[in-house]
Amino acid sequence: MNHLTVAAKAAAVGMLAFLATCGEQPDMESQWKQLYGTTAAGESVYVYSLRNSHGMEARILDYGGIVTSLRVPDWWGQHQDVVLGYDSLSGYLTDNAYLGAIIGRYGNRIAGGRITLDGTEYALATNHGPNHLHGGIRGFDKVMWTVDEHGSRRRRSLMLTYRSVDGEEGYPGNVVASVEYSLTEENELRIEYRATTDRATIINLTNHSYFNLAGAGKGTILNHTMMINADHFTPVDSVLIPTGELKPVEGTPMDFREPALIGERIDAPDEQLSSAGGYDHNWVLRKDGTDLSLAARVYEEASGCVMEVFTTEPGLQFYSGNFLDGSAVGKGGTPYQHRSGFCLETQHYPDSPNKPQFPSTVLRPGEEYASTTVYGFSSR
Ligand code: GLA
Repeated sequence: MNHLTVAAKAAAVGMLAFLATCGEQPDMESQWKQLYGTTAAGESVYVYSLRNSHGMEARILDYGGIVTSLRVPDWWGQHQDVVLGYDSLSGYLTDNAYLGAIIGRYGNRIAGGRITLDGTEYALATNHGPNHLHGGIRGFDKVMWTVDEHGSRRRRSLMLTYRSVDGEEGYPGNVVASVEYSLTEENELRIEYRATTDRATIINLTNHSYFNLAGAGKGTILNHTMMINADHFTPVDSVLIPTGELKPVEGTPMDFREPALIGERIDAPDEQLSSAGGYDHNWVLRKDGTDLSLAARVYEEASGCVMEVFTTEPGLQFYSGNFLDGSAVGKGGTPYQHRSGFCLETQHYPDSPNKPQFPSTVLRPGEEYASTTVYGFSSR
C-alpha cells in the first residue's frame, strides 16, 4: 500500500502534532463563529467551526445547514478536506447540486409532485422534470436556519432550527425542524434530525455532502472502494422514480456487499445504471438490531482514509456525482468534474408517500420525527 514503516509513520505523526501545537492559539470566539457573507435579502450568514482534540474540523453554515469543509486525518497524519464545496457564499447561493446541504422537507423524489394524506391531495413544487426533488424549488438547502447558541453544547455541536410554514413548496403543516451537528472525539460527524408538525405532513431529512476521500477536487471517486450493507435496492424507472419493487443486489452491479471499486462496474451494460447515468439509487439497508447500524464503508487507498456511515434510517442513496459536469467551480477554483464526489444520503426510500409498501414518512401532530446518522473517519 505504501512504503513507510509503521514506526516512521508514527514519528511523522508525532512531529506534525508537535508543530500543530506550536502555532499561536487564535481567539476561541473567532474560531467558533465568523461572518461568511450576506444573502441577496441582506441576511448575514455565519460559518461555525466544530473541532475535536485530534484536529478534525467541520465548518457549517447557518444558510442551508451546509457543511462547507470537513477536515479529517488521513493515514499520513495530514488533514484532508474530504467534502466538495465553494470558496464563498456566492457559490452556495447559486448552487444546484446541493453541495453539503441539509435536504428537506423530503429528500429525494416524489412522483409528479403529488401526495395524498388522509384523503386530501397536495401538489408539491416540481423541480426535476415532472417530479419533486429534494424539497422543491427553495428547499431546506436554500433557507436561513437559526442557531441555538445555548443548545450548541459547549461548542462541540451546532444546533440549527428552521420553521417551515404551512404550504411551503406545497407541503401541508407548520413544521419545526432541527438539525444538530456534533463532532466526537472518535472522529465522527454526528447528525441528529428532529421535526414536529401541527398537521399531517411528510418528512425525510438528509445531508447532501459530496465526499472525495483523496481530498476535495482531487480527481474522480472511481477508485474508492465501496461497501454497502444491503441485500436489496429499489430499482427505478427512466425518471428515477422507484418501481416499488425491492430487488436483490445479487448478480447485479448494485452488489456492494463485498467491497468493490466504484469504477469497476459503473459503466456496465445495465438498464438501472444507464437510466441514472451511473449509481443514483436507494439501497435497502440491513439492520443489525441496534439503532445505529452500519450502512456503508468507503476506502481510498492513496490517502488511506476510511469513512463509515451508521444510521437509524432504512435506506441509503448512493449517488456517484453523475450530474457533475465541471460547471460548478469549487474550492480553490477547481471545476468539479463528472463523478468527482459521491453522496451517501441516509433516508427513507424515494417516493415513499406514493408507495404504501415502503416504510412510512408521514408525520402527525403530537409525534416527533427523529433520525440520526454518523459519518466516522479512520485510516489504514
Ligand atoms: C440526489 C439525486 C440525484 C441528483 C442529486 C443532486 O442524489 O438522487 O439524482 O439530483 O441529488 O444533483
